[in-house]
Amino acid sequence: MTTRKLIAGNWKMNGSSAALTEIDAIASSAMALAVDVLICPPFTLIAGACGRGVAVGAQDCHPKASGAHTGGVSAAMLVEAGATYCIVGHSERRTDNGETDADVRAKAEAAIAAGMTAIVCVGETLAERDAGHAVAVVKRQLAGSLPGMLDKTVIAYEPVWAIGTGRTPSLGDVAEMHAAIRGVVGDGVRILYGGSVKGANAAELLHVDNVDGALVGGASLTAADFVPIIEAA
Ligand code: PGA
Repeated sequence: MTTRKLIAGNWKMNGSSAALTEIDAIASSAMALAVDVLICPPFTLIAGACGRGVAVGAQDCHPKASGAHTGGVSAAMLVEAGATYCIVGHSERRTDNGETDADVRAKAEAAIAAGMTAIVCVGETLAERDAGHAVAVVKRQLAGSLPGMLDKTVIAYEPVWAIGTGRTPSLGDVAEMHAAIRGVVGDGVRILYGGSVKGANAAELLHVDNVDGALVGGASLTAADFVPIIEAA
């Protein structure tokens, strides 16, 4: 399947309003390229990130629409702030906040119901890969986490052991996993690779079959690091 690639930056808990100028620099470099570019800054920067020439997304949402959930931010609130995408089920949230597949599905459905595209993250641990269970683990996560409406869903395959470590799977392992995910979600759903994507490895990862883009953490924080990844797409 040939789709326009999506290069998404996940700023995690980084950045202040001063960092918004990085988005301007990213947008001006990416403007002429046939690539969709998305930045997911912290909640507090979403409104300020909008209108600068790239799509803006959130890193999480609450599954409920409103109510007594101190600290929660609903999908509709994110849409009002300007978000058009919402990452759900990132491994850091699955680990730090104990989010289950059912929680992730509820968040994805809330994001889609509010009008956003949900980016559902899946990925195995190193122990699971070493035990030969990587594909089975990811298929189980997909079975539990995917929302009903796949047309507003993007999958991000992010091996937990590759996130922020500088390590990446072999291109063969990426191809095997993305083909397995394609078998589950079918054509028309973008499947991103994430985990230590940098300017130096982006081209080879993005040219693997069924890799429709990248979800980038550390290397999305500055235009100097992020633009080469967009150019590689
Ligand atoms: P990384 O993070 O690019 O810093 O490895 C990827 C992610 O967690 O989305």
